[in-house]
Amino acid sequence: MESLEDHLKNKENQETDPDQNSKELEMLLSSLKLAPKSSLPRKVTPRELFSIAPMVDVTDRHFRYFMRLLTKKAFLYTEMLNEHAIIHSKKGKHAMLSYSPNQHPLICQIGGNDPDKMAMAAQICEEWGYDEVNVNCGCPSNKTRDGCFGAVLMFDAELVARITRAMLDAVNIPVTVKCRLGVDDLDKYEDVHHFISTVSIKGGIDKFIIHARKCLLSGLNPHENRTIPPLKYDWVLRLKKDFPHLRMVINGGFNDIEGQILPMLNDENKLEGVMSGRLAYNFPWELAKIDRLIYGDTECEDSMTREDIMRDYAEYAQQQQDYDKGQGWYLPNSVLVRPILNLFSGEYEGGSFRKTLVENASNKTLYGGKIRDCILDTMEYYRGFNPEGLQTRNGVKVVRPQSMYEKIHSTSAKTSASPERQIESSSKGESPSE
Ligand SMILES: Cc1cc2nc3c(=O)[nH]c(=O)nc-3n(C[C@H](O)[C@H](O)[C@H](O)COP(=O)(O)O)c2cc1C
Repeated sequence: MESLEDHLKNKENQETDPDQNSKELEMLLSSLKLAPKSSLPRKVTPRELFSIAPMVDVTDRHFRYFMRLLTKKAFLYTEMLNEHAIIHSKKGKHAMLSYSPNQHPLICQIGGNDPDKMAMAAQICEEWGYDEVNVNCGCPSNKTRDGCFGAVLMFDAELVARITRAMLDAVNIPVTVKCRLGVDDLDKYEDVHHFISTVSIKGGIDKFIIHARKCLLSGLNPHENRTIPPLKYDWVLRLKKDFPHLRMVINGGFNDIEGQILPMLNDENKLEGVMSGRLAYNFPWELAKIDRLIYGDTECEDSMTREDIMRDYAEYAQQQQDYDKGQGWYLPNSVLVRPILNLFSGEYEGGSFRKTLVENASNKTLYGGKIRDCILDTMEYYRGFNPEGLQTRNGVKVVRPQSMYEKIHSTSAKTSASPERQIESSSKGESPSE
């Protein structure tokens, strides 16, 4: 009978390239050990005022390209990429790690638990030009739980510290941690305080992204773990007060830029920034306000219309598909249209736009299989319903953009139109007390 060890070995062999052998791994590991980089000056990234959260099956390179058409400034994160996949994959590396140059500042989120492998994965990300790497200590899925990474790591702050130390020794770019406020019954304020203290002091981490709720590893699925445990923004603010030297990005339930995000960024809270996930997928057009409202960008008068965005994205999608075809790979239409499905969320017949785009994209013979024509034709179809929607520049044309601070003082709570949702509700209006 096959032993567990043999089983794992065989499984690994099936999943990875056959020529990736342990010698290569050892060589890479020893080269890492020879050259610790923690003593060298570290690259610095600007303040992460607003970031788009890492989301598996959402924030791939195409989604991030689309995000960059909406905001030039927000920090972008990859989906969580597994340490093994980063190290071992050969063919898949391009799809996983490549990105268009406009995506900076860009952060690669890594999932794993082996300090050496995490260090090596970080080094590969640095070579690919990522601006930072982030360690996932917040994912509660069965897969991460069984593989002992993600949120499970919050049980072992010492291990996280060893992981981040190894990563810091291997790269010159910043290393950060994304975590929750607790896991299972490790959910007292003192527990998360201990985690942050250990990982910052022993692990050398000075920037944390905190999803402001705990998670339950048994009993709740990932979706429920993003909605049921209550948000506790006050805990994150308290952590910031207890660790004033650390940079903290708050995450969870931020869906209203003017009513929620700007007030959270006030001087008193002293936070590094706010991160939003589901807002970006469900209401991407909202993000067209980010550069003006949060970064005080003076060029926002030239911001793109949704017609400009779709034309640009259609060209991009075609280029991506042609490139992959040239390499003998198949990049499905469905993957390329997914980022833009919700561009008209909450608007007249926004659902028709999405439905038609999905239908057109799934018909391989329509438009001679050209993804560009599929997108542009769907746009023309939608023009019949909502011509203004294609032309508006997010309804803003300002003479002098207000700074973030001016905006905070003149802002009033505002709710957006009720939209159709593609991924789970992002709980608009969630408050810490809920
Ligand atoms: C579809 C989906 C996939 C996600 N994948 C990841 C992930 O890969 N890594 C991670 O740290 N968080 C992941 N998250 C959690 C988000 O990064 C974020 O912490 C969470 O959605 C709360 O933020 P929000 O309320 O603004 O959406 C995911 C969330 C969603 C909805």
